[in-house]
Amino acid sequence: MFDTMTLTKIVGGFCGALLIFLLGNWAAESLYHVGGGGHGEGEQVSGYVIETGAETQKAEPKKEVSFVEVFASADPAKGERVFNKCQACHKVAEGENAIGPSLYGVVGRKVDSVAGYNYSGALEKVVDVWTPQHLNDFLTDPQEYAPGTAMSFPGLSDIEDRANVIAYLDQLDGDTYPMPEVKAAAPAADTQQAAADTEQAAADTQQAAADQNAAQPQAPAADGGEATPAADSGESEFSTLVAAADPADGERVFNKCRACHRLEKGANGVGPHLFDVVGRDIASVEGFRYSDALTALEGAWTEDKLNAWLEDPRGFAPGNRMSFPGLRKIEDRASLVAYLKTIK
Ligand code: HEC
Ligand code: HEC
Repeated sequence: MFDTMTLTKIVGGFCGALLIFLLGNWAAESLYHVGGGGHGEGEQVSGYVIETGAETQKAEPKKEVSFVEVFASADPAKGERVFNKCQACHKVAEGENAIGPSLYGVVGRKVDSVAGYNYSGALEKVVDVWTPQHLNDFLTDPQEYAPGTAMSFPGLSDIEDRANVIAYLDQLDGDTYPMPEVKAAAPAADTQQAAADTEQAAADTQQAAADQNAAQPQAPAADGGEATPAADSGESEFSTLVAAADPADGERVFNKCRACHRLEKGANGVGPHLFDVVGRDIASVEGFRYSDALTALEGAWTEDKLNAWLEDPRGFAPGNRMSFPGLRKIEDRASLVAYLKTIK
């Protein structure tokens, strides 16, 4: 069928095409390497550097999201899936210990407190109560947080995983931990407020009882303060302890407050600034949005009132937004108040 000529033409055409292809390829390659001067063969460098702004974006500091914000929108259902990572060692049923202690009701629970579980003791050296924030810090890197802990778990690097699993653990006992209001969550704020208001109604009825428990024994006055001018005269047992306490110890205790409180005037955080707080009127910091539970209290923060507040914030002012479980030891409260007295 083919004569030699046709065959030569076909082969020639093919060679020509191949040549053009190779030439084109070479041209493209050399273009590709333009601008990549100095780079060795085989390196994949694009010919033109296109300014996308990607680099500069990367250089900007990432927006810091606080755990409190992430926790506010955490999803317990997702947390249940994260809990698969804990299941090898932990059960959630009450009282059922495994390699690790039962995690029923762990949020808000005292550290190392499950009966019949043999703890290493490393945890209670660094933390008293498992608040959501403490759990977050612990679960980020257990070994770093509590060196020597028997929990051999590398940690959860994703803040959302941590928030979700803590939210999951939090609802197991049907009693969720009250977190401070997140300022950024503006759209939800109103519904939160409504919930807070109904809580408030209940809180008000408890208030009378709380006043009796928490206020100074010599002053069972109905409204917790103004009728007690003698309260700060330094006569109470607590004031004696404060006078004898070491402010340097108190400064260490204050580490438990730092997540939410600053000491510089005007520097409000999750909580109001604590500059000159001893003797300051309750709920009086300009620009800080207090809960009704706190604004309802009259008078000033006497040493005794601070003692009662810091021992049990929820008991002292039910419905308030300071999600802090309290300082169990009276010596801690006394040294802390001694320290706060120096901040003015
Ligand atoms: C390899 C086993 C193991 C895994 C996995 C593990 N834990 Fe633990 N966990 C332990 C042990 C052991 C302890 C006791 C630590 C000690 O006494 O130092 C503990 C202690 C704890 C405590 C303190 C409880 C208390 O009563 O004070 C919490 C909270 C906790 N684990 C949560 C978790 C969560 C949440 C996960 C999953 C994200 C997890 N653990 C994964 C073994 C484990
Ligand atoms: C998780 C955050 C958080 C922690 C931790 C915390 N607080 Fe607070 N605190 C708050 C919030 C929020 C308020 C405002 C409460 C309200 O309006 O109901 C508050 C209010 C107060 C007030 C009342 C101030 C005023 O202007 O009337 C004092 C005093 C106080 N905290 C002291 C402390 C001390 C001392 C510690 C540490 C032992 C501490 N708090 C730990 C969040 C926190």
